[in-house]
Amino acid sequence: MTEGHNLRVEGAQAKHGPAGFAAMRDGFIRLSLPVRDRPLRTALETGTLTSAGGADARETLRSWASYESTPLVSLPVLATALGVHAVSCKDESARFGIGSFKALGGAFAVLRALQDEVERQTGHRPSASALRDGSPVVAEITIVTASAGNHGRSVAWGSELFGCRCVVVLPVDAIPPRAAAIESHGARVERFDGAYDEAVGWARSQAEQNGWLVVSDTAYDGYEDIPRRIMEGYTLLAEEMLDAIAAAEARPLTHLLIQGGVGGLAAGVCGRMVERLGDDRPRFVVVEPWKADCFGRSLRAGHLVTADPPFETEMGGLAAGVPSTIAWDFLETALDAAVALPESVWISGAAALGRGDLGPAIEAGPSGAAGVGALLVLAGLPASRSLLEFDEHSHVGVLVTEKRFT
Ligand SMILES: Cc1ncc(COP(=O)(O)O)c(C=O)c1O
Repeated sequence: MTEGHNLRVEGAQAKHGPAGFAAMRDGFIRLSLPVRDRPLRTALETGTLTSAGGADARETLRSWASYESTPLVSLPVLATALGVHAVSCKDESARFGIGSFKALGGAFAVLRALQDEVERQTGHRPSASALRDGSPVVAEITIVTASAGNHGRSVAWGSELFGCRCVVVLPVDAIPPRAAAIESHGARVERFDGAYDEAVGWARSQAEQNGWLVVSDTAYDGYEDIPRRIMEGYTLLAEEMLDAIAAAEARPLTHLLIQGGVGGLAAGVCGRMVERLGDDRPRFVVVEPWKADCFGRSLRAGHLVTADPPFETEMGGLAAGVPSTIAWDFLETALDAAVALPESVWISGAAALGRGDLGPAIEAGPSGAAGVGALLVLAGLPASRSLLEFDEHSHVGVLVTEKRFT
């Protein structure tokens, strides 16, 4: 299962002594541990999330007609093979029929952005159902966002639901089905030749020139409200996971492996887990592509460090080199480790999930399969087992964050 992989541990010297693994790209994964112990600041303390905003997002999303909690699937075969107590996999591939967990964030933020804008223009705040019935003011509003695909689809879906125009900026090399899925919601797709972080800036300049509204999932200085709302939407995923574990009277999670792009998902989910569980929270390990390893770099440096393109990965949703500012404010003290993966790892994760080797078969896309792929390697190697304290008592949570687009 771990054949062909070796581990390179970095940033561990301060706590664990010299790591001493040779650098090599393929065949290695890189585990980065924080260089210093940092007292945890909760996501509420850092202002990454608000308690009221999280509750509002969860209640609103649960009230939507097509809402259903996504499955938390037990993977007993994998747990036995890895010598851990249990593996629970949150399968987001069918969330709201949109194909990824991003359905929880962008569409919800579109609703709130439109309500704010109508209130600003007319002095009257419309309800969600009034927007669904059609509003002439909203019909004149255009929302723009940059996306690797999933966030854009969520924003396009939200724009369709609530009746505004939408422009989604996609990378030039995004596969045609991604663009088609976005266009199926009536949105316009613009192609951008550059990295995600640059596309965010370009979408912003288009908004300034054309009087459009930006609904970005990444926060930057002076732009925090909408990304916060998006992360508050993602807290529902954590809530469902914790509720399902409690309902099954299962052992609490000891580890959570979670994919990192700009860090919104990790901040929303881990933030809510800390809010509910306090010191009993699981260990948080963020999973990222080998070259887009901004979280690993930052943990090793003890401060925010970006990664530069080209990222050379098919894990498009994770191909971001600049963390979202307010996500990082919390993740800085909440992350226990970051793991950077070569492509072979998501490929083995997707193959094992798709074959149904581990439990019920799941068709996961590259970013979606990265968590399971990382677990296959991390829990199998003696060095990472020991550094991350995987043992027969561990209950590991993983996420399939997207379906496979064909
Ligand atoms: C499938 C998938 N997984 C994980 C992520 C990471 O989310 P975030 O950028 O909020 O860290 C993304 C982001 O686009 C994604 O599309």
